[in-house]
Formats: sequence, C-alpha cells, structure tokens
Amino acid sequence: MTLKEVKNNIFFCGLNHRERRMFDELIPLPMGTTYNSYLIKGSEKTVLVDTMYPPKADEYLQKLENAGIENIDYIVCNHGEQDHTGALPKVVKKYPNAKILTNPKCKEIIQEMLHIEDDKFQVVADGEEISLGDKTLKFIFAPWVHWPDTMFTYVKEDKIIFTCDFLGSHSPFENIFAVESEALLLGAKRYYAEIMMPFRNFCKKYVQKLKEMDIDMILTSHGPVYNNPQYILKAYEKWTADEAANEVVIPYVSMYESTKEMVDYICEKLSDKGIVVKPFDVVNEDLGELAMELVEACTVVFGASMVLAGPHPAAVTAAYLTGLLRPKTKYISFIGSYGWGGVLTAKLEESLTNIKAEKLEPVIIKGKARKEDFEKLDVLVETIYEKHKSLGLV
Ligand code: FEO
Repeated sequence: MTLKEVKNNIFFCGLNHRERRMFDELIPLPMGTTYNSYLIKGSEKTVLVDTMYPPKADEYLQKLENAGIENIDYIVCNHGEQDHTGALPKVVKKYPNAKILTNPKCKEIIQEMLHIEDDKFQVVADGEEISLGDKTLKFIFAPWVHWPDTMFTYVKEDKIIFTCDFLGSHSPFENIFAVESEALLLGAKRYYAEIMMPFRNFCKKYVQKLKEMDIDMILTSHGPVYNNPQYILKAYEKWTADEAANEVVIPYVSMYESTKEMVDYICEKLSDKGIVVKPFDVVNEDLGELAMELVEACTVVFGASMVLAGPHPAAVTAAYLTGLLRPKTKYISFIGSYGWGGVLTAKLEESLTNIKAEKLEPVIIKGKARKEDFEKLDVLVETIYEKHKSLGLV
C-alpha cells in the first residue's frame, strides 16, 4: 500500500492542487488547495470517501492503481459539488462493483450534473449505519454546509468523522496531519469566509453537534486532517459567534484620491479611538482577504468614487460580494465623492439587503473634502465609536 495511513486502515488518497489560483473563479488561492479522498479498508468491504476534481481524475485513478486497489465496494459521496464528485463517471467505470452511498438530495444533484445511472446508487437515510465488517459507517445528514445535500460520515470504531467541505481549509500539505499554524488557520478562514459564512447559523449548530460527539479526528475534503478536533472547532466557534470584533472594514475605490483622502481620514480618527481599521483597495487587493476581514468586523464602511452618475463598478462588486457572504456586520455606512452628480449609495444598498445591519448616515461629497465635509466624517466616526461602545467593544 503506497497510500498514507490516517488511522487503522483508513488511508489518504487525495491530491494537492498547489498551482490552482482561483476558487469558484472568485476567490484567489495564494497557496492552492487540495481535494481529499480517503480509502477505508474494512475486513469485508472497501470504501472510497469522496472522489476528485475532474481535471485531476486520471492522476487520482493512477494513484489508486499504484496502491494496488482492485476493487471498491462503496463510494461515499458526502456532497455533490464536482470538486468531490466530478471524477465519479471514471471511478464507477474503473470499479464497476462500486455502489454510491449518498443521501437523496446528493443523488439528485450528482445525477443532474454527471448523468450517472440509477442502479449505481444506494441511498442512505439520516442515522443509517452500514457495516464494512470490522468497521461501521454512520451517515449524519448536515444540510446547508454549504449545499442542501451535505452530510457527514462517522466511522464508529475509529471515532473518525468525514465532514467534506465543512471545517475545510485551502491548505495544501505533505504531512497529512494538521500542523497548527497561522498559515493553516488563514487557509481555513479563507475557506470559511467564502464557502461557509453565508450559512453561519448552520455552521454554529454543527460545531456544537460535533463537540458533543466522541471524535478523535476530523477528516475534511480540503486541507489536512485535524487530529486535534478542538483546534478547528474553536476557530469556528469564534467565527460563527454572534459577537463581532472591534473592527471597521473599509472596502474602497478611489479614482482621483478624493475618496481615498476620506478613507485615510476616518482610518486615523477611528484608530485614535481604539478601533481596529482595515482599509481595503477593492481594485488592487485580493477579494479573499476582504472576505476574511468580513468574518469578524462589527462595521463596514464602503468608499466609492462616482462613475457616470452611479458608484464605481468595483465598489458595486465589493458590496454585492458582501451581501452574498452575509457576514455578521452590525453597522454599515458609505462615504464617497462625485464630480458632477449622480446617486452613490442606492446601488450599493441594493446589494446589501441580505445583511441585517443598521445603516449609519453616509457622507457623500462633491469633489475634494472641505472643512464641513471633514466635520461630517467626524460625526460618522463618533457614531461608529458610540455604537461599538454600546456593544462593549471599546
Ligand atoms: Fe469542496 Fe462544495 O465543494
């Protein structure tokens, strides 16, 4: 067996994709990512848990062949998205005895995406158990982390749980066990911010559920194996908590420095009041970083120049992304500058209706800020400070 063993005949058979630079054609991947798959050799049945991203399918099958895997009895699909199922057509062709074990919703998604025949599936129920001889798989439905089909698979005898995307990390690795580090946590936070944050309340619920279970290891389908489950569960508890951090994120775009001057001004004033500020140039910086900053910030202030009587398109993108990701933000405001006219905030607000945040009075000015404009910014800064203070953050 050339595969690395995780525990008691459970092996890692996934692949790194270090050179991948974008996820969902949206979030940059500075380190790349991984697509994890696992092989369980029970005394009577052999199982694959999740498979592979389609462009890596041949490499994946070669890896299984090199390990001498001649028969697969079951393929567990914990989630239908194609970075875990895209290789299925090739896998079921190579291993014709294999039955796909999954829930009804995931079966429906796989069939719609991949056109796999009905007789290849064995649908499981929530809580159902399947024996592999000396090991027992238990299926735990966990919808909405992050699709309606998501589920976990627990190996009772080994106290191992496969959670697919949930708790994953965009962190390629050689040593299969997580090395607890800032880099790993950032990979996990980047992953959470884009994929899981819109489902924060579901994440919170499943974190509690996992904490109540007897679990020695968490095996996700992106990033290394957590042999200290508390490490990632604690991070998720912080990210999913209702309490926000004493931070103001300021995604901005500025064409002629007038908006930038306003951003710099409020950054300095907020910082003087003990509030952490995170200005973010939405044209030139990594949107994944913005998503990560949104995970905990109490307040978001969008800064925009006006283009053709509306907000700059880059500001609209940032607002739209923020609305999609549904962070726990408590307060939102807008600052910006225009040359000859238009409406700056309406289009941005339209993108943010998903977020239940209180809107603070925007400061929109003509041209370069004058004394009275800075005074309006002072009022905004004071309001943010008072709001943070009322939450016990400063
Ligand atoms: Fe890693 Fe939702 O796929």
